[in-house]
Amino acid sequence: MTEPRKLYVRSFGCQMNVYDAQRMTDTLAGHGYVETDTADDADLVILNTCHIREKAAEKVYSELGRLRKSQEEAGRRQMVAVAGCVAQAEGAEILKRARSVDLVVGPQSYHKLPELIAQAEARGSNRRAGIVETEFPVEDKFDFLPPPSRAAIAKRGPTAFVTVQEGCDKFCTFCVVPYTRGAEVSRPVARILDEVIRLADGGVREVTLIGQNVNGYHGVDAGGRDVGLAELVRRVAQIPGIARVRYTTSHPRDMDDDLIAAHRDMPALMPYLHLPVQSGSNRILAAMNRRHDRELFFAIVEKVRAARPDIAFSSDFIVGFPGETDEDFADTMDLVEKVGFAGAFSFKYSSRPGTPAASMDGQVPEDVKSARIHALQALLDRQKAAFDAACRGRRFEILLEKPGRFPGQLIGRSPYLQSVVVEAPVEAIGTLALVDVREVSTKSLSGDIIGGEFFAGNVGEKRSARQSEKVEA
Ligand code: 5AD
Ligand code: SF4
Repeated sequence: MTEPRKLYVRSFGCQMNVYDAQRMTDTLAGHGYVETDTADDADLVILNTCHIREKAAEKVYSELGRLRKSQEEAGRRQMVAVAGCVAQAEGAEILKRARSVDLVVGPQSYHKLPELIAQAEARGSNRRAGIVETEFPVEDKFDFLPPPSRAAIAKRGPTAFVTVQEGCDKFCTFCVVPYTRGAEVSRPVARILDEVIRLADGGVREVTLIGQNVNGYHGVDAGGRDVGLAELVRRVAQIPGIARVRYTTSHPRDMDDDLIAAHRDMPALMPYLHLPVQSGSNRILAAMNRRHDRELFFAIVEKVRAARPDIAFSSDFIVGFPGETDEDFADTMDLVEKVGFAGAFSFKYSSRPGTPAASMDGQVPEDVKSARIHALQALLDRQKAAFDAACRGRRFEILLEKPGRFPGQLIGRSPYLQSVVVEAPVEAIGTLALVDVREVSTKSLSGDIIGGEFFAGNVGEKRSARQSEKVEA
């Protein structure tokens, strides 16, 4: 038997890249590759890259430099592939800038990886001739990407991402996604359900449905009917074993009444909604081509809160978009004050080649961006700390995910994605526990288990049987 070859995939950027990395790993598993945890002992290194901001894109080149150096020091040859959104956006440029790269592959061609790697290998030591595959192929990669094995699912733990929609047609003027991920495409309902059934069978309890514009999801079901995200969430939540559903990332324009009703009617749909708003200024929202104003955002927040009173929001913000004045920024701060967020990501505007905003007048100086991001992050941090502090004394259902730092500890997630440290045996991983939150720190909550699936013994037996399979697998 030939030795298995070792594969190391490093992902940058969003959750879709995490999902894609798994699908690449699953694909290559069928071609004799096993995963390894470090680049150093890998035969094949895949950098799964992000192009969203300049900093993210530049990380690729520093990582490639590091890889090259360690290869030289160790005097050995590794195959290096650049995948993801930088691969799509920069293509052959990457080969010019980093000669150690053998293969550049865009997100729509991952099903071709084995064939592309074989081609790159066939070129042997002629390293100047790297391969570039950045077409948007006519076939759907999902039809060809093999599913994960049961052992792979178990290894990845009780939560999983599932891509249901990819690409974006919204064309926000700052954003590369419509160019790197292409037009909006929704996967058919049956394919998604099959994938979730398989995951549930492998022990997954929580799925996060992901898409660049996930609430714009419009798939067809087996009967040829058009299905929106709300209906998809309902069908996913009915799959035996699935206890929790989340979805991300949403656009305010696509928060329709059916989806808001799903938040009201479905306990399995977690009460934590990531809804990027980007700016609180109507002038800037228009320049960003967001297709909504701050009033629409307030109206959605109000409706969702009325439907699900325990809901919490997180969001994305950009400061220093071209033309942003002090008043515009004050409007963003005002929006944050008015809504109150439990979590948030905020970024300095980064000019991206080929996007409309890159050539707009009124680019904001770096020091102004820095001052604004500091002020915004301080406010968002205060809100997050206040939200977390208010969780002390609350009783949450926690999904126990993995061992904690100390023996006898497990780490789970609250409905609001907070890490919660509890004392529980490893056999309880993958079960829901009812926890009284006692302590709140900046990074996590901790509390006491007062009941739950494993502890009440109702599904405990079944779960622990599954767990022992995991250990053996
Ligand atoms: N500059 C800064 N932040 C950006 N984002 C997207 N494009 C840019 C850019 N050019 C942010 C948005 C988006 C998140 C994923 O990244 O806030 O919601
Ligand atoms: Fe980065 Fe966007 Fe690509 Fe995700 S889709 S990897 S956030 S550029």
